[in-house]
Amino acid sequence: MEQDYDEEIAIHYHAFRPELHSLILADCLRNERFDKGLDIGSGTGQSSIALSAFCEQVIGIEPSAAMLNNAIAHPRVTYSGYDLVTIPLKNDEATIITFAGVLYYAKSQELLKEVSRVARSGAKVVIYDFEVLTAAILSSITNEQFLSVGTDYKHDVDLSGLDLTDFKLLQKQKEKTILGLNPEQLSHILLADSIQFHWLKQQFGKQDLHKKVMTALDTIAENNSIPVPADLYSTVYTYTG
Ligand SMILES: C[S@@+](CC[C@H](N)C(=O)[O-])C[C@H]1O[C@@H](n2cnc3c(N)ncnc32)[C@H](O)[C@@H]1O
Repeated sequence: MEQDYDEEIAIHYHAFRPELHSLILADCLRNERFDKGLDIGSGTGQSSIALSAFCEQVIGIEPSAAMLNNAIAHPRVTYSGYDLVTIPLKNDEATIITFAGVLYYAKSQELLKEVSRVARSGAKVVIYDFEVLTAAILSSITNEQFLSVGTDYKHDVDLSGLDLTDFKLLQKQKEKTILGLNPEQLSHILLADSIQFHWLKQQFGKQDLHKKVMTALDTIAENNSIPVPADLYSTVYTYTG
């Protein structure tokens, strides 16, 4: 796994995620409603909670204990550990399945076979991700050019390359938005990414890192708000098996 989802990262993940999950899902699903949602790689729950707006019930499954321990409670969401082999659902149970920022790590024919087992015929599969474009901000608050090196992470990963006999591609999109974030929210976003976290730690030192980053971000905020561009990626399939 490229990104380390350890306790420090999980705390910032839990503290704030931008409202982009709901925005992307609304764009993909419009007014559709589903009985049982499955969110694979649910992290600290924001993607499961966003999915719950479209479902009677959601199960979020997550391999990292640190993320699971920080998962946000919600009356229509349950969380479960995930051993990366067996999805803890019965056959034909899920009517919508989401991967939010996860498929890059998880993509395999074995996973797709498990998805086919738990998906009811006609189920939707939504693969989505977003990239909050922070490189310019990181450079401006530290006077050091931030270069994200050594990652081949792909935000637009989809199921292509796998055996898609039982899956029909419905749509694939890339859109842009601008977020208005306050320094505290943006600091959590920066520190929830392990590469940025370690880079900021080098710049500011470990002590009170979140506070120091917030103070630096204050200097570029106007009326407590910083405009931050983001790219939104989504692909939707129907399971026809
Ligand atoms: C970028 S986070 C996204 C979390 C959540 N879906 C969200 O949008 O807030 C990626 C998550 O995928 C999990 N993960 C990593 N490898 C995975 C795999 N093979 N299968 C399922 N989840 C995985 C990580 O532990 C992490 O919680």
